[in-house]
Amino acid sequence: MSVSPLTEAQWQALSLEAERARRRAYAPYSGYKVGAALLTDRGVVRGCNVENASYPLCVCAEAATVAKAVGMGRRTFLALAVATEGPEPGAPCGACRQILAEFALDLPLALVVAGVPRTYTSVRALLPLAFTPQILAESTTSKRL
Ligand code: THU
Repeated sequence: MSVSPLTEAQWQALSLEAERARRRAYAPYSGYKVGAALLTDRGVVRGCNVENASYPLCVCAEAATVAKAVGMGRRTFLALAVATEGPEPGAPCGACRQILAEFALDLPLALVVAGVPRTYTSVRALLPLAFTPQILAESTTSKRL
C-alpha cells in the first residue's frame, strides 16, 4: 500500500528512473549497485553510488542524489525511489536516513528491485526520533554564530 499521494503509475515511473540510475553506479569494490530517483518540485534528479579505492570514501546513491539536487537549487523533495539488487530490497543506510531527514522527514520512499517497487515506507518511519534542523532552531542553548 502506498504511503503517499503518488499513484501506483507514478511510483512505477519513478522506480524505473531509479533502476536506470542504478546502471550508472560505480561499484567495482562491493559490486552492489544502487540507484536513486528523487522527485522534486521541479523534476526528477537521479544518482548512484560512487565507490573509491579508499573504501571509507564511498558515497551512497541517496547521498549523491541529495547533493546533486541541492546543487541544482532544488530542496523541495516529494518522493524517492531507491533501486538495489535483490532478492530483498535494500533500505537506505543510517547516514542516508539522516541526510534525507534534513530536507524531508515525511518523504515517501519506494524500495525497488528490478524496476518494480517492492516496499513503501517513509524517512520518518525509518528514522524515529530524528535529529532535525527544527530541534536546533528551537533549542534554548544553541546559538548560531
Ligand atoms: N549503498 C548505497 O548506495 N546506499 C545505501 O543506503 C546503502 C549502501 C552503497 C554503498 C556502497 O557503494 C555499496 O552500497 C555497498 O555498501
